[in-house]
Parts: sequence; structure tokens; C-alpha cells
Amino acid sequence: MGISLGLIGYPAKHSLSPWIHQRFMETAKIKGSYNIFEIAPDEFDKEVKNLKTMDLQGFNVTVPFKQKIIPYLDQLDPDAKRTGAVNTVIDHDGKWIGYNTDGKGYIRSLKSAYPEVISDDKRVLILGAGGAARGIYRALVTENMKQVDIANRTISKANLLLELGERTTETFIFTMEEAKEKLRDYDLIIQTTNVGMKPNSKEQPIPLTTLKKGTVVSDIVYQPLQTAFLQDAKSHGGFTHMGHTMLLYQAQYAFELWTNQKVEVELMDRELEQRLK
Ligand code: ATR
Repeated sequence: MGISLGLIGYPAKHSLSPWIHQRFMETAKIKGSYNIFEIAPDEFDKEVKNLKTMDLQGFNVTVPFKQKIIPYLDQLDPDAKRTGAVNTVIDHDGKWIGYNTDGKGYIRSLKSAYPEVISDDKRVLILGAGGAARGIYRALVTENMKQVDIANRTISKANLLLELGERTTETFIFTMEEAKEKLRDYDLIIQTTNVGMKPNSKEQPIPLTTLKKGTVVSDIVYQPLQTAFLQDAKSHGGFTHMGHTMLLYQAQYAFELWTNQKVEVELMDRELEQRLK
């Protein structure tokens, strides 16, 4: 029979998670299934209670339920609590424990491509202050990064992220306009807004005209794979880090929480790229 995993979300049926976790199960030689539970938002309460009666080892949570799931949990991991969002639930003898694997997954994906950039002497700029930025900011703080700045269209939203930090991390908040002029100061720039998330989009949150050569430029958008932002980074001598790798590593960490097995994802990277093309 094997293990039983799944995903709740709406919409969810085009998710790549079933493919990723099936591949993990094959690699780890674990029998099991990963099913999509597409839940209409107004049926959430009923369907989640129904899920509790099922014999699942765990499940992923995607939009729009990452916050809505929290009252149904028996326990919350401190990082998930701090970021206020859960994307992975473990069923431990009928008790649900909530985690957020996005931030740590992001760090893992970055470390696999550019290990030297996660170091406390490097300066980081995050563009955006939404849900994705929260997880990444928190994970960078947890990695003891000392200088992590945030630029966002709405300044008040960026200020909210500060509560996720520690006093050991220095953070300045900028508008996008201000950030444009400061790119030279950074070793790593992380694009977390949804600008550019459309097939063939030419949009990007800021132009990278003043980028310093050798800066690592990361975009968490993976559809399209080569965003206008990453193309701009390349044309100015930046090193690029693509968004689909975060998808793989957040899944790797979730799978590890469910099964205690860490599967290698390097070989799946190209395969996922092909699927997204
Ligand atoms: P996610 O969970 O994907 O991060 P979100 O919480 O809705 O989504 O956050 C979206 C982010 O993209 C925010 O930083 C948002 O900026 P605001 O806080 O000013 O709304 C940013 N964003 C979305 N559309 C944008 C645009 N056209 N220009 C600049 N920033 C944009």
C-alpha cells in the first residue's frame, strides 16, 4: 500500500508537486501515492475535517490555504509560526504539525548553485514583501545573514517583515525607485514579486542597468523559466539563479519531513526545466 501524501489548494490540478514527489518516492524506493485535493474555498472547513479522517502521512498546502490551515493544526514549527504560513503538514499519530519549507528550500537551492553567497559578509536585497519574501527573509536571518535589505512598492508592507528578523540583522527598507540606484551595493538580489509571471512577459520590477558584474541575481518566478529580469541580469554580467530550483528543494525538505529520507534533486533539475519549457 505504501505511504499516502497529497496537496490541498485551489486551483491545484496543474501543480508539479505530484510529479516531483512521485520521482522522490521512486528514487528513495518508497511505495506510495501523492494526490491532489482541489478544495473550493467555501468547502474548506468540511474538506479539511474530512482529510483528518484519512490515513495520510502528510500533505502540502498551497494557495489560498497557507494561512487558513493554521487553526486546524495541533502544533506549529517556529519558522512557520514566524512567517504565518504553512506549506507542509505532517500527520504524526493523528496530530497535525505545520511547517514552512519554502524559505529553507530556497536557501538550499541557492547554496547548491552559489554556496559562497550565503555568508555573513554578503549584502542582500530582496525585491518584494509578500508571502514569498517573508519566508525567504526569515530563512536568510536564520542563516545569520547580517545585511538583508528590502525594496517594495508598498513601504508599509516591507516594514511588516522586520518583525520576522532578529536584532543581529541590519535591514534597510527602500522603494523600488531607490533600489534601482543602489544595485552596486549588493552581492545577491532576490526577485520575489509576481511581476514577470506571465508567458513571454517582458516585465520586471526594476531595470538592472546599474548591476555590478558578478552579482548573483535570483528570481523565484519559474514560469517563464528565463524571466525578463534574469535575461537583464545576464546582459549586465550577473550570475543567475532560476526559480524552479526552489520548487525542487522546498519539496525535498517536505519529503524529508515526511519520510526521514533526503533524496538528491540535482539530477531532476534538467528534467523539471524540460517540463516547464
Ligand atoms: P506572494 O505570496 O507570491 O509573495 P503576495 O503576497 O501577493 O504574493 O505579494 C506580491 C508581491 O509582489 C508584493 O511585494 C507586491 O508589492 P505590494 O506589496 O506593493 O503590493 C509585489 N507586486 C505585485 N505586483 C506588482 C507590481 N506591478 N509592481 C511592483 N510590485 C508588485
